[in-house]
Amino acid sequence: MSRLLLLSSIVVSGMTLSATVQAEDQHSFAELDRVSTPHLELDLTVNFAEKQLEGTATYNVSRHADADELVLDTSDLTIHKTELWLNDKWQETPFTLAEPHETLGQKLTIQVGDSSEKVRIHYETAPTASGLQWLTPEQTAGKKHPFMFSQSQPIHARSWIPIQDTPALRLTYDATIRTPDQLRAVMSADNALTAERSDAYELSMPQPIPPYLIAIAVGDLEVKSISDKVAVFAESYIIDDAAWEWADTPKMIEVTEAMYGPYRWDRYDLLVLPPSFPFGGMENPRLSFITPTVVSGDRSLINLIAHELAHSWSGNLVTNASWRDLWINEGFTSYVENRIMEAIFGKRRAQMELALGYQDLLGDLETLAPADTVMNIDLGTRHPDDVFSQIPYVKGQLFLVYLEEKFGRDVFDAFLRDYFDAFAFQSISTEQFKNYLQQNLLAQNPGVVSMEKVDEWIHGEGLPEDAPRPTSDAFEQVEKQMMVWLKGGQLQTTEWTTHEWLHFINNLPLDISAVNLARLDREYALTTSDNAEIAHAWLKLSIIKKYEPARERLRSYLLSIGRNKLVAPLYRELARTPDNLKWAREVYQEARSGYHPLTQSVNEAILYQEGDE
Ligand code: BES
Ligand code: ZN
Repeated sequence: MSRLLLLSSIVVSGMTLSATVQAEDQHSFAELDRVSTPHLELDLTVNFAEKQLEGTATYNVSRHADADELVLDTSDLTIHKTELWLNDKWQETPFTLAEPHETLGQKLTIQVGDSSEKVRIHYETAPTASGLQWLTPEQTAGKKHPFMFSQSQPIHARSWIPIQDTPALRLTYDATIRTPDQLRAVMSADNALTAERSDAYELSMPQPIPPYLIAIAVGDLEVKSISDKVAVFAESYIIDDAAWEWADTPKMIEVTEAMYGPYRWDRYDLLVLPPSFPFGGMENPRLSFITPTVVSGDRSLINLIAHELAHSWSGNLVTNASWRDLWINEGFTSYVENRIMEAIFGKRRAQMELALGYQDLLGDLETLAPADTVMNIDLGTRHPDDVFSQIPYVKGQLFLVYLEEKFGRDVFDAFLRDYFDAFAFQSISTEQFKNYLQQNLLAQNPGVVSMEKVDEWIHGEGLPEDAPRPTSDAFEQVEKQMMVWLKGGQLQTTEWTTHEWLHFINNLPLDISAVNLARLDREYALTTSDNAEIAHAWLKLSIIKKYEPARERLRSYLLSIGRNKLVAPLYRELARTPDNLKWAREVYQEARSGYHPLTQSVNEAILYQEGDE
């Protein structure tokens, strides 16, 4: 497994002790302390007919020890040939590809000798690559052209690039992407806004990033500017709506810079993916990838943009060194996201979003194995995708809210700003964060928060006794109204936003009568809501309550959306009764080819558990 020696110094009463902390990434075969790869050049041809990328990855080689082997991660790749740049020409060199590991893929070892500074790998991907989705023209909105995109986080970059696939590595990259000439290729790089359609695109990411942030999409993409720094890339059907929906993005950048220091990535563009994109958003640097399900027409779901933008500081600038440390990305980002929302939309809205997140966390705390409620989780070699939960997000966020409350906002903001500077363009472990926290916050303000308390948050199960328990006045009003409504009264919903609706639906008593459900639907047309989050909450309730009028909508929802957070809870609910399970499997079989590999594997585990078939 990848080993990285991290030197950190601890100052104890004037003495500096050097402690060597050994952080290990259990999810990569790379040996960064021996030979690492600070720069990548990709030359790839996008073959839609075969659903394959084919070409070369060329690395600059950096030797840190007396080592003559470069170890890379691969998954489902065919390696044709490996070469070294020696005496001004490419010369073939031997490689070995190990047997596949269940979750990690295949270790690729290349003989790099002791002098060559460049190694080149000729390879192709498999149509089943876990980090790519290939859509036929019929599966896109425009129906005329195919679409392809990557999702590399956490460990899928290795399914489309042979790479040292650990977030402890940072590398720059250049790419030549060869496409059919009616399509546009974009990457987490310096996308040109003016580029005419062409059969080859040259792209470059000059800042060192972890491998999971290398991203690509190819499709019939248009571009529309929101400001001189922000543009939207999308298929034409949605580009105007998306540009309207996200008009606040330039302002979000400004308020984040004011709080946490400069935005260091030049442009910030947004790419709308097809509805099968498995996540809400992905913070690919310079070009966040976003699900179309948040283009709701009322700007109610733009906390997702705040979230992906926030990663430009927490995650992309300061990066978790391994997937055990994911809270360093997602907890900080959820915290920063909420601060952006507060700065632009005020405390009331930010507090509702915090309270919604807290409710989700409580749900997870009830169902997760206690060991999986630890922020600095022990994953072993389990696939990080299988252990995805609200713990790194909301528990991580609450930890930072806790520190903010204890030290005061001014002190904590200054601390965070310095933290982003201190570790800019570095990958850090939980231990490194703790050392930094000890030196720069705890020791500076003695007697406020102890290291034992920090350890309880980071290494303990569940939530500490004195954790913040966010509530929202707005939601208390909703609950009061609900009581009146359940007794036959009227709801006053004219002022309600998506947040209030979500809280209302999620907290309806499970013994609600069929009559009341039908009344709700009649008055507020929830079955036909085109807000994807509201529809999700309602459809989930409709399964639990066997509310049949929503069945057809449930079917079309599952067939048209592949964002896993929106579909998996529905399949999970359906899997609870034999009749529903049978129905769900039929719908799934119809939907399957449109789902991303991640959505497929998660939902197949739900619908076809072992011994169940
Ligand atoms: N980086 C994550 C998505 C991710 C995390 C992919 C871990 C693979 C492994 C992204 O920033 C994210 O958190 N997206 C959320 C947004 C939400 C919390 C606002 C999503 O997709 O729902
Ligand atoms: Zn995130």
